Amino acid sequence: MRLDDVRSISIVGAGIMGHGIAQVFALGGYNVCLNDATPDALDRAMVRIRENLRIFRENGFVTDPEADSAYARISTEVDLEASVRNADIVIEAIKEDAAQKQELFEKLDVMCPPHTILASNSSSLLISEFACTTRRQDKVVLAHWYNPPHIVPAVEVIRGAGTSDDTADLVYDILKKVKKLPVRINKEIPGYLLNRIQMAMVREAWYLWQAGVASAEDIDLAVKGSIGFRLASIGPLLTSDLGGQDTWCAVSRYLFPLISDAHVPPEDYVKMVETGNLGMKTGKGFYSHTKEEWDAIIERRDKEFLQRLKNLYWE
Ligand SMILES: NC(=O)c1ccc[n+]([C@@H]2O[C@H](COP(=O)([O-])OP(=O)(O)OC[C@H]3O[C@@H](n4cnc5c(N)ncnc54)[C@H](O)[C@@H]3O)[C@@H](O)[C@H]2O)c1
Repeated sequence: MRLDDVRSISIVGAGIMGHGIAQVFALGGYNVCLNDATPDALDRAMVRIRENLRIFRENGFVTDPEADSAYARISTEVDLEASVRNADIVIEAIKEDAAQKQELFEKLDVMCPPHTILASNSSSLLISEFACTTRRQDKVVLAHWYNPPHIVPAVEVIRGAGTSDDTADLVYDILKKVKKLPVRINKEIPGYLLNRIQMAMVREAWYLWQAGVASAEDIDLAVKGSIGFRLASIGPLLTSDLGGQDTWCAVSRYLFPLISDAHVPPEDYVKMVETGNLGMKTGKGFYSHTKEEWDAIIERRDKEFLQRLKNLYWE
């Protein structure tokens, strides 16, 4: 299958990730069938998509007719077979459960036409674990999106041992076509690329918080205004080239033995989670806010994300 042959894309799982992914492909001009085992989830997904499109329109990303026709290109379907039997690409975004995903891939392999590419949005599992349940290992790939998927540009395209060049290239190309920022990951590795980098930073931030080196507010403030400020424009490797590798090498030799290499999260952090302080979900985590305050934080975050998206990635 060539890029121009792709007409129809099915998304299985219409939750936090699935609805946003559906929106991206519909805006890119594809017919999208959104599937979920729960009819309510499909209704909620369409409400969220309408709201996302409204915000895109208000911020000048799309015109009214573009938003309306994208919305009209998305159909919903509870029956799995009906959802995928005409699909050129299926993207799985169901719950992060290896056994359920394996079962789904096995079914998709039977239900989909032979040319269909099967992609997973798993955030931690290895694609070879699903590919082996199919007779099309060359057409199985992992495409790992970031939340919110209709806004965050990067998508990691991770090949399994059996993924063909054609499959990896086609998924890469179609993501580019729908204005995402695909990144090729050539080897399967737990955590892929971005979660490994993110977790390395978070481990140190949690360590510093537990050790009382600075408050949660000051840790966030410092990172946002320095490392984070730079990272939206230049990655960590270019940053070190610009700073001078002699300096970065010397600092790493001094600090690597001193920074956290913990294999478990710090005690106070685990206590916070085990006492039900899960962040916005329960009102309190590192920060404590009312529902209205959390809503305002999300609104401000999304506004800034959209500005950055427009400045850096949207042509
Ligand atoms: N939420 C994130 O921040 C995030 C980021 C990147 C990747 N992911 C990954 O994306 C996937 C989906 O995550 P989410 O946060 O959207 O989950 P979610 O719980 O919001 O949505 C999952 C949806 O899948 C449906 N579902 C479950 N089993 C199904 C089946 N067999 N067939 C059809 N529908 C089914 C559920 O009804 C639910 O609506 C997971 O693998 C997750 O690890 C999540």
